[in-house]
Amino acid sequence: MQRIGVLTGGGDCPGLNCVIRAITKTVMTEYGATVVGVEDGFEGLVDGRMRELGNSDVSGIISLGGTILGTSNKGDPWHFPVTGADQSVTITDASAQAMAHYRQWELDCLVAVGGDGTMNIAGKLAGLGANLVGVPKTIDNDLAATDLTFGHETAVAVATEAIDRLHTTASSHHRVMVIEVMGRYAGWIALRAGLGGGADIILIPEIPFTWEGVFRKVLSRSRHGKRFSIVCVAEGAKLPEGGEVVKAYDSKRTDAKQLGGVGAFVAQRITEGTGLETRVTVLGHLLRGGSPVPSDRVLATRFGVLAGHLAAQRRYGLMAALHGSRVEPVPIKDAIAGLKLVTRDDELVQVAKSVGTSFGEV
Ligand code: F6P
Repeated sequence: MQRIGVLTGGGDCPGLNCVIRAITKTVMTEYGATVVGVEDGFEGLVDGRMRELGNSDVSGIISLGGTILGTSNKGDPWHFPVTGADQSVTITDASAQAMAHYRQWELDCLVAVGGDGTMNIAGKLAGLGANLVGVPKTIDNDLAATDLTFGHETAVAVATEAIDRLHTTASSHHRVMVIEVMGRYAGWIALRAGLGGGADIILIPEIPFTWEGVFRKVLSRSRHGKRFSIVCVAEGAKLPEGGEVVKAYDSKRTDAKQLGGVGAFVAQRITEGTGLETRVTVLGHLLRGGSPVPSDRVLATRFGVLAGHLAAQRRYGLMAALHGSRVEPVPIKDAIAGLKLVTRDDELVQVAKSVGTSFGEV
Protein backbone atom coordinates (compact mmCIF):
# COMPACT_ATOMS: atom_id res chain seq x y z
CA MET A 1 0.00 0.00 0.00
CA GLN A 2 1.44 3.38 -0.97
CA ARG A 3 1.96 6.10 1.61
CA ILE A 4 1.47 9.61 0.25
CA GLY A 5 2.45 12.64 2.29
CA VAL A 6 0.73 16.04 1.96
CA LEU A 7 1.99 19.37 3.24
CA THR A 8 0.88 22.97 2.85
CA GLY A 9 3.77 25.47 2.82
CA GLY A 10 4.17 29.26 2.90
CA GLY A 11 1.33 31.68 3.64
CA ASP A 12 -2.11 30.11 3.91
CA CYS A 13 -4.74 30.84 1.32
CA PRO A 14 -8.40 30.00 0.75
CA GLY A 15 -8.72 26.63 -0.97
CA LEU A 16 -5.95 24.69 0.79
CA ASN A 17 -8.46 22.47 2.55
CA CYS A 18 -10.18 21.73 -0.76
CA VAL A 19 -6.83 20.42 -2.05
CA ILE A 20 -6.13 18.30 1.04
CA ARG A 21 -9.64 16.86 0.78
CA ALA A 22 -9.35 16.15 -2.94
CA ILE A 23 -5.94 14.44 -2.67
CA THR A 24 -7.02 12.33 0.30
CA LYS A 25 -10.30 11.19 -1.24
CA THR A 26 -8.71 10.45 -4.62
CA VAL A 27 -5.77 8.37 -3.41
CA MET A 28 -7.74 6.55 -0.70
CA THR A 29 -10.76 5.59 -2.75
CA GLU A 30 -9.18 5.12 -6.18
CA TYR A 31 -5.81 3.62 -5.18
CA GLY A 32 -6.28 2.39 -1.61
CA ALA A 33 -3.29 4.50 -0.53
CA THR A 34 -2.62 5.89 2.95
CA VAL A 35 -2.35 9.66 3.36
CA VAL A 36 0.07 11.22 5.82
CA GLY A 37 -0.47 14.90 6.64
CA VAL A 38 2.65 16.87 7.53
CA GLU A 39 1.98 19.60 10.09
CA ASP A 40 3.05 23.22 9.56
CA GLY A 41 4.69 22.82 6.19
CA PHE A 42 8.38 21.90 5.91
CA GLU A 43 8.81 22.81 9.58
CA GLY A 44 6.81 19.65 10.39
CA LEU A 45 8.92 17.57 8.01
CA VAL A 46 12.12 18.70 9.75
CA ASP A 47 10.57 18.10 13.19
CA GLY A 48 8.87 14.83 12.20
CA ARG A 49 5.40 16.11 13.08
CA MET A 50 2.99 14.09 10.92
CA ARG A 51 -0.28 12.20 11.24
CA GLU A 52 -2.28 9.83 9.10
CA LEU A 53 -5.41 11.37 7.58
CA GLY A 54 -8.69 9.52 7.17
CA ASN A 55 -12.05 10.32 5.65
CA SER A 56 -13.30 11.94 8.84
CA ASP A 57 -10.38 14.42 8.81
CA VAL A 58 -11.30 15.75 5.38
CA SER A 59 -15.05 15.55 5.61
CA GLY A 60 -16.85 18.91 5.74
CA ILE A 61 -13.77 21.07 5.10
CA ILE A 62 -14.43 22.21 1.53
CA SER A 63 -15.71 25.61 2.65
CA LEU A 64 -13.18 26.06 5.45
CA GLY A 65 -10.47 28.72 5.01
CA GLY A 66 -6.87 28.19 6.14
CA THR A 67 -5.39 24.69 6.29
CA ILE A 68 -6.22 21.87 8.69
CA LEU A 69 -2.53 20.85 8.54
CA GLY A 70 -1.14 24.24 9.52
CA THR A 71 1.56 26.00 7.52
CA SER A 72 4.71 28.04 7.94
CA ASN A 73 6.99 30.26 5.90
CA LYS A 74 9.88 29.65 8.31
CA GLY A 75 10.48 25.95 7.65
CA ASP A 76 12.88 25.93 4.69
CA PRO A 77 15.08 22.89 5.55
CA TRP A 78 18.11 24.64 3.99
CA HIS A 79 17.44 27.81 5.98
CA PHE A 80 16.09 26.33 9.19
CA PRO A 81 15.99 28.63 12.23
CA VAL A 82 17.02 27.13 15.54
CA THR A 83 16.45 29.26 18.66
CA GLY A 84 19.13 28.85 21.33
CA ALA A 85 18.67 29.00 25.12
CA ASP A 86 19.64 32.68 24.99
CA GLN A 87 16.90 33.25 22.37
CA SER A 88 19.49 33.85 19.64
CA VAL A 89 18.51 32.41 16.25
CA THR A 90 20.93 30.30 14.22
CA ILE A 91 20.10 29.41 10.62
CA THR A 92 21.03 25.77 9.94
CA ASP A 93 20.85 23.18 7.17
CA ALA A 94 18.25 20.67 8.38
CA SER A 95 17.68 19.00 5.01
CA ALA A 96 19.13 15.66 6.18
CA GLN A 97 16.66 15.68 9.09
CA ALA A 98 13.77 16.37 6.69
CA MET A 99 14.88 13.44 4.51
CA ALA A 100 15.27 11.19 7.56
CA HIS A 101 11.63 11.82 8.53
CA TYR A 102 10.48 11.31 4.95
CA ARG A 103 12.09 7.84 5.10
CA GLN A 104 11.06 7.09 8.67
CA TRP A 105 7.42 7.65 7.76
CA GLU A 106 7.96 5.41 4.69
CA LEU A 107 6.56 7.96 2.29
CA ASP A 108 6.46 6.95 -1.37
CA CYS A 109 5.83 10.54 -2.34
CA LEU A 110 5.17 13.97 -0.87
CA VAL A 111 2.60 16.35 -2.36
CA ALA A 112 3.74 19.91 -1.62
CA VAL A 113 1.02 22.55 -1.86
CA GLY A 114 2.50 26.03 -2.01
CA GLY A 115 3.91 28.97 -3.90
CA ASP A 116 7.32 29.61 -5.45
CA GLY A 117 9.19 29.13 -2.15
CA THR A 118 7.51 25.77 -1.54
CA MET A 119 8.14 24.60 -5.12
CA ASN A 120 11.81 25.60 -4.81
CA ILE A 121 12.18 23.48 -1.69
CA ALA A 122 10.26 20.63 -3.36
CA GLY A 123 12.77 20.71 -6.22
CA LYS A 124 15.70 20.59 -3.80
CA LEU A 125 14.21 17.68 -1.82
CA ALA A 126 13.76 15.80 -5.10
CA GLY A 127 17.50 16.33 -5.62
CA LEU A 128 18.09 14.43 -2.34
CA GLY A 129 16.00 11.48 -3.48
CA ALA A 130 12.46 12.32 -2.30
CA ASN A 131 9.56 11.93 -4.74
CA LEU A 132 7.62 15.17 -5.10
CA VAL A 133 4.38 16.31 -6.71
CA GLY A 134 3.40 19.98 -6.59
CA VAL A 135 0.15 21.92 -6.29
CA PRO A 136 0.38 25.68 -6.88
CA LYS A 137 -1.28 28.03 -4.40
CA THR A 138 -0.96 31.70 -3.64
CA ILE A 139 -3.29 34.65 -3.44
CA ASP A 140 -0.57 36.57 -5.34
CA ASN A 141 -1.05 34.53 -8.57
CA ASP A 142 2.64 35.05 -9.32
CA LEU A 143 3.60 31.45 -10.05
CA ALA A 144 4.97 30.77 -13.52
CA ALA A 145 3.67 27.74 -15.45
CA THR A 146 0.02 28.12 -14.36
CA ASP A 147 -2.49 30.65 -15.59
CA LEU A 148 -4.10 30.85 -12.17
CA THR A 149 -3.47 29.76 -8.59
CA PHE A 150 -6.40 29.09 -6.28
CA GLY A 151 -6.88 31.66 -3.53
CA HIS A 152 -6.33 34.52 -5.93
CA GLU A 153 -10.00 34.83 -6.94
CA THR A 154 -11.05 34.97 -3.29
CA ALA A 155 -8.49 37.69 -2.53
CA VAL A 156 -9.64 39.69 -5.55
CA ALA A 157 -13.29 39.29 -4.50
CA VAL A 158 -12.57 40.55 -0.97
CA ALA A 159 -10.53 43.50 -2.27
CA THR A 160 -13.19 44.39 -4.85
CA GLU A 161 -15.91 44.40 -2.23
CA ALA A 162 -13.74 46.62 -0.05
CA ILE A 163 -13.30 49.09 -2.92
CA ASP A 164 -17.08 49.10 -3.47
CA ARG A 165 -17.58 49.94 0.19
CA LEU A 166 -14.93 52.66 0.11
CA HIS A 167 -16.63 54.28 -2.89
CA THR A 168 -19.74 55.28 -0.94
CA THR A 169 -17.87 56.76 1.99
CA ALA A 170 -15.32 58.43 -0.32
CA SER A 171 -18.01 60.13 -2.39
CA SER A 172 -20.00 61.18 0.68
CA HIS A 173 -17.00 62.88 2.27
CA HIS A 174 -15.30 64.02 -0.97
CA ARG A 175 -12.11 62.26 0.05
CA VAL A 176 -9.32 60.36 -1.58
CA MET A 177 -9.32 56.78 -0.36
CA VAL A 178 -6.13 54.75 -0.65
CA ILE A 179 -6.53 50.99 -0.33
CA GLU A 180 -3.42 48.82 0.11
CA VAL A 181 -3.60 45.17 -0.93
CA MET A 182 -1.14 42.28 -0.66
CA GLY A 183 0.52 40.58 -3.62
CA ARG A 184 4.21 40.69 -2.76
CA TYR A 185 6.28 41.56 -5.85
CA ALA A 186 3.32 41.10 -8.24
CA GLY A 187 0.49 43.53 -8.93
CA TRP A 188 -2.19 41.01 -9.94
CA ILE A 189 -4.46 41.52 -6.92
CA ALA A 190 -4.30 45.33 -7.16
CA LEU A 191 -4.79 45.26 -10.92
CA ARG A 192 -7.76 42.88 -10.96
CA ALA A 193 -9.47 44.29 -7.86
CA GLY A 194 -8.78 47.85 -9.03
CA LEU A 195 -10.29 47.05 -12.40
CA GLY A 196 -13.26 45.19 -10.93
CA GLY A 197 -13.92 47.87 -8.31
CA GLY A 198 -13.43 50.80 -10.68
CA ALA A 199 -10.42 52.33 -8.91
CA ASP A 200 -9.28 55.62 -10.42
CA ILE A 201 -5.60 54.92 -9.87
CA ILE A 202 -3.85 51.55 -9.65
CA LEU A 203 -0.24 51.45 -8.45
CA ILE A 204 1.66 48.20 -8.95
CA PRO A 205 5.30 47.10 -8.66
CA GLU A 206 5.65 46.42 -12.38
CA ILE A 207 4.68 49.94 -13.57
CA PRO A 208 6.77 52.76 -12.08
CA PHE A 209 4.62 55.72 -11.05
CA THR A 210 5.37 59.39 -10.39
CA TRP A 211 3.81 61.63 -7.75
CA GLU A 212 2.98 64.11 -10.48
CA GLY A 213 1.06 61.43 -12.37
CA VAL A 214 -0.94 60.54 -9.26
CA PHE A 215 -1.68 64.19 -8.31
CA ARG A 216 -2.69 65.04 -11.85
CA LYS A 217 -5.30 62.28 -12.00
CA VAL A 218 -6.79 63.16 -8.60
CA LEU A 219 -6.90 66.90 -9.37
CA SER A 220 -8.36 66.42 -12.83
CA ARG A 221 -11.18 64.36 -11.32
CA SER A 222 -11.84 67.18 -8.84
CA ARG A 223 -11.90 69.72 -11.65
CA HIS A 224 -14.47 67.63 -13.48
CA GLY A 225 -16.76 67.49 -10.47
CA LYS A 226 -15.68 64.12 -9.12
CA ARG A 227 -14.61 65.23 -5.71
CA PHE A 228 -13.36 61.84 -4.59
CA SER A 229 -10.87 59.28 -5.88
CA ILE A 230 -10.00 55.67 -5.13
CA VAL A 231 -6.34 54.61 -5.29
CA CYS A 232 -5.63 50.88 -5.18
CA VAL A 233 -1.98 50.27 -4.33
CA ALA A 234 -0.14 46.95 -4.25
CA GLU A 235 2.02 46.46 -1.17
CA GLY A 236 5.07 45.93 -3.41
CA ALA A 237 4.61 49.14 -5.46
CA LYS A 238 7.90 51.00 -5.69
CA LEU A 239 7.98 54.62 -4.56
CA PRO A 240 9.18 57.18 -7.12
CA GLU A 241 12.10 57.94 -4.80
CA GLY A 242 13.03 54.25 -5.04
CA GLY A 243 12.27 50.91 -3.43
CA GLU A 244 9.38 49.13 -1.79
CA VAL A 245 8.12 50.01 1.68
CA VAL A 246 9.25 47.27 4.06
CA LYS A 247 7.46 46.85 7.37
CA ALA A 248 9.96 44.45 8.94
CA TYR A 249 12.76 41.99 8.27
CA ASP A 250 12.63 38.50 9.74
CA SER A 251 15.69 36.34 9.09
CA LYS A 252 13.72 33.17 9.95
CA ARG A 253 11.56 33.56 6.83
CA THR A 254 12.63 32.21 3.45
CA ASP A 255 12.05 35.76 2.17
CA ALA A 256 13.12 37.99 5.06
CA LYS A 257 11.21 41.01 3.76
CA GLN A 258 7.75 41.71 5.15
CA LEU A 259 6.16 44.28 2.87
CA GLY A 260 3.59 46.82 4.03
CA GLY A 261 3.02 50.51 4.62
CA VAL A 262 3.10 51.93 1.11
CA GLY A 263 -0.58 52.94 1.38
CA ALA A 264 0.06 55.33 4.25
CA PHE A 265 2.97 56.82 2.37
CA VAL A 266 0.88 57.36 -0.77
CA ALA A 267 -1.99 58.88 1.25
CA GLN A 268 0.33 61.34 2.97
CA ARG A 269 1.90 62.43 -0.29
CA ILE A 270 -1.51 62.92 -1.93
CA THR A 271 -2.64 65.17 0.93
CA GLU A 272 0.57 67.19 0.68
CA GLY A 273 0.51 67.37 -3.12
CA THR A 274 -3.19 68.10 -3.72
CA GLY A 275 -4.51 69.54 -0.45
CA LEU A 276 -7.33 66.95 -0.53
CA GLU A 277 -8.37 65.00 2.51
CA THR A 278 -7.09 61.42 2.25
CA ARG A 279 -7.62 58.19 4.21
CA VAL A 280 -5.92 54.81 3.97
CA THR A 281 -7.25 51.27 4.43
CA VAL A 282 -4.87 48.31 4.57
CA LEU A 283 -6.61 45.02 3.81
CA GLY A 284 -3.67 42.80 4.80
CA HIS A 285 -4.55 39.28 5.87
CA LEU A 286 -8.29 39.80 5.33
CA LEU A 287 -7.47 38.84 1.73
CA ARG A 288 -6.25 35.43 2.86
CA GLY A 289 -8.73 34.52 5.55
CA GLY A 290 -12.18 32.96 5.37
CA SER A 291 -14.01 30.77 2.89
CA PRO A 292 -12.80 30.30 -0.67
CA VAL A 293 -15.11 31.59 -3.41
CA PRO A 294 -16.70 28.82 -5.53
CA SER A 295 -14.23 29.18 -8.43
CA ASP A 296 -11.30 28.71 -6.02
CA ARG A 297 -12.96 25.63 -4.51
CA VAL A 298 -13.41 24.14 -7.97
CA LEU A 299 -9.85 24.92 -9.11
CA ALA A 300 -8.32 23.66 -5.85
CA THR A 301 -10.32 20.44 -6.11
CA ARG A 302 -9.24 19.94 -9.74
CA PHE A 303 -5.59 20.51 -8.76
CA GLY A 304 -5.91 18.15 -5.79
CA VAL A 305 -7.46 15.35 -7.82
CA LEU A 306 -4.78 15.61 -10.51
CA ALA A 307 -2.02 15.70 -7.88
CA GLY A 308 -3.53 12.61 -6.25
CA HIS A 309 -3.46 10.74 -9.54
CA LEU A 310 0.11 11.87 -10.29
CA ALA A 311 1.32 10.77 -6.84
CA ALA A 312 -0.45 7.42 -6.89
CA GLN A 313 0.70 6.71 -10.46
CA ARG A 314 4.30 7.56 -9.44
CA ARG A 315 4.50 10.42 -11.94
CA TYR A 316 6.87 12.49 -9.84
CA GLY A 317 8.49 15.91 -10.37
CA LEU A 318 5.24 17.30 -11.77
CA MET A 319 2.92 20.08 -10.63
CA ALA A 320 -0.77 20.55 -11.43
CA ALA A 321 -1.31 23.68 -13.54
CA LEU A 322 -4.13 25.50 -15.31
CA HIS A 323 -3.63 26.25 -18.99
CA GLY A 324 -6.65 27.95 -20.50
CA SER A 325 -9.52 25.77 -19.31
CA ARG A 326 -7.43 22.61 -18.88
CA VAL A 327 -5.76 21.34 -15.72
CA GLU A 328 -2.61 19.43 -16.66
CA PRO A 329 0.80 18.45 -15.26
CA VAL A 330 3.92 20.58 -15.82
CA PRO A 331 7.47 20.00 -14.54
CA ILE A 332 7.94 21.57 -11.08
CA LYS A 333 11.10 23.20 -12.39
CA ASP A 334 9.02 25.23 -14.89
CA ALA A 335 7.07 26.70 -11.98
CA ILE A 336 10.18 28.07 -10.32
CA ALA A 337 11.82 29.43 -13.46
CA GLY A 338 10.76 32.96 -12.46
CA LEU A 339 7.84 34.93 -11.10
CA LYS A 340 4.82 35.62 -13.27
CA LEU A 341 4.50 39.40 -13.17
CA VAL A 342 2.19 41.93 -14.81
CA THR A 343 3.59 43.38 -18.02
CA ARG A 344 2.86 46.86 -19.34
CA ASP A 345 1.27 45.38 -22.45
CA ASP A 346 -0.96 42.99 -20.48
CA GLU A 347 -4.49 43.16 -21.82
CA LEU A 348 -5.82 44.01 -18.34
CA VAL A 349 -3.52 47.05 -18.14
CA GLN A 350 -4.69 48.21 -21.56
CA VAL A 351 -8.34 47.64 -20.63
CA ALA A 352 -7.90 49.63 -17.41
CA LYS A 353 -6.32 52.50 -19.33
CA SER A 354 -9.15 52.44 -21.88
CA VAL A 355 -11.69 53.04 -19.11
CA GLY A 356 -9.67 55.95 -17.77
CA THR A 357 -7.73 54.28 -14.95
CA SER A 358 -4.37 55.86 -14.27
CA PHE A 359 -1.24 53.91 -13.30
CA GLY A 360 0.35 57.10 -12.00
CA GLU A 361 2.51 57.57 -15.06
CA VAL A 362 2.95 61.09 -16.39
O1 F6P B 1 2.37 35.34 -0.55
C1 F6P B 1 1.16 35.59 0.09
C2 F6P B 1 1.28 36.80 0.97
O2 F6P B 1 0.00 37.05 1.55
C3 F6P B 1 1.79 38.06 0.27
O3 F6P B 1 0.81 38.69 -0.50
C4 F6P B 1 2.30 38.85 1.43
O4 F6P B 1 3.33 39.74 1.07
C5 F6P B 1 2.84 37.81 2.36
O5 F6P B 1 2.19 36.59 2.02
C6 F6P B 1 2.61 38.11 3.81
O6 F6P B 1 3.19 37.12 4.56
P1 F6P B 1 2.99 36.99 6.14
O7 F6P B 1 1.61 36.46 6.36
O8 F6P B 1 4.03 36.02 6.54
O9 F6P B 1 3.17 38.34 6.72
